[in-house]
Amino acid sequence: MNIYSALISILILLNSYFKTYDLKPFSHILGLEGFIKTKKPYFCANMMHFELSEEHLAVQQAARDFAQTELLPGVIERDNKQEFPAEQIKKLGELGFLGMMVDPKYGGSGMDTISYVLAMEELSKVDASASVVVSVNNSLVCWGLENFANEEQKQKYLVPLAKGLVHGAFCLSEPEAGSDATSQRTTAVDMGDYYLVNGTKNWITNGNTASTYLVIAQTNVEAGHRGINAFIMTRDMEGFVVGKKEDKMGIRGSDTHSLMFTDVKVPKANRIGEDGFGFKFAMKTLTGGRIGIASQALGIASGAYELSLKYAKERKAFGTEIMNHQAIQFKLADMATDIEAARMLCLKAAWLKDQHLDYGRASSMAKLFSSEVAMKHTVEAVQIHGGYGYVKEYHVERLMRDAKITQIYEGTSEVQRVVISRDILK
Ligand code: CAA
Repeated sequence: MNIYSALISILILLNSYFKTYDLKPFSHILGLEGFIKTKKPYFCANMMHFELSEEHLAVQQAARDFAQTELLPGVIERDNKQEFPAEQIKKLGELGFLGMMVDPKYGGSGMDTISYVLAMEELSKVDASASVVVSVNNSLVCWGLENFANEEQKQKYLVPLAKGLVHGAFCLSEPEAGSDATSQRTTAVDMGDYYLVNGTKNWITNGNTASTYLVIAQTNVEAGHRGINAFIMTRDMEGFVVGKKEDKMGIRGSDTHSLMFTDVKVPKANRIGEDGFGFKFAMKTLTGGRIGIASQALGIASGAYELSLKYAKERKAFGTEIMNHQAIQFKLADMATDIEAARMLCLKAAWLKDQHLDYGRASSMAKLFSSEVAMKHTVEAVQIHGGYGYVKEYHVERLMRDAKITQIYEGTSEVQRVVISRDILK
């Protein structure tokens, strides 16, 4: 049997097994006219295509509906007052959006990363202060615990987080350790059956609203990054103090605080992984987190674009709707093109993660590009809106302020370029 006939035999076998796939269009090439009956070529199942499944579309629609009915009302007020969207986060938890990718046996929704990207885009179109909670809880806290915590830790901490009963925080940044994440000053001294933790963490998302904190600290200075550990901490631990709330430019509804630890006794049972695994834990977790923030940036950009499109069709200048002016048309064309490219990068990174393939470079590319697109095109959205764009009622000025943080947190654009270039050059 030559390769050609072996291939035909395999295709026929697969075709008869998977009745829904059709080899018809290929039957004349294969010389098998009339022999092949069903609808789609089998090998399309594994071929690249750009269609979302019905399940993906349903998740996307659910997130879109939630954003319109639950997040949109009050979003301007929450931004003004720096008010955390507590009710909305509770509802998102009840709907399964806080543990989207967690296995149902740990209380999660068991969805894939593609679904997560789609949901993040829709929520972020309207309220990036709420979507950052979704991102941190899903990708940094739940994913980190599901993949690296032991069974006892999962039962105790992951299950309530995945069910959305509570949410968590990821504590890596410090006053002197932002991009240079190996320079941890927070110490965790091994005292036998517990660690004594001292130090300060900065700019912690969910700092005052979280119940579970994943804290990175230095145990063995001589060992450098290999002496860093990750711990599960709770705010009821003695010596754990929540510091001041940050008064931020954007995502003002999100809850950002510094945290202070003074002689906090953290049981050894709360260390994640082997001794010295903490830095790798942080890096691996952030690699997935960057897909979440990339999708948030994508949502901010596409939210601004949709508002601009609507405005351009309604607003008149020089005797016609402004969409009829080429200056506006070109802006819209650039926005639509860049946003589509950002979406492709986000979905590609998510797909690679779902296939258990290396997604480090892809997630950094998605975050770098999407956050730059968000910044660039929210500025353009304000420009299209003119004077109205500069006032709060029209939403785009908030989206412009919110966009900026996507170039900074979970690794600045410069850090993403470091990750990408190192991967290219290795
Ligand atoms: N996966 C697994 N291991 C990784 C890794 C990854 N993605 N990246 C690095 N490592 C490992 C390396 O292999 C190396 O281990 P070995 O020595 O055993 O081989 C170790 O980690 C150190 O790596 P580097 O030498 O590359 O470390 P570096 O000091 O040069 O730093 C960096 C690299 C990419 C700049 C990194 O420090 C970094 O990502 N910085 C940014 C930190 C960040 O994203 N902070 C965000 C704060 S969290 C936040 O914002 C959350 C929020 O609330 C929204």
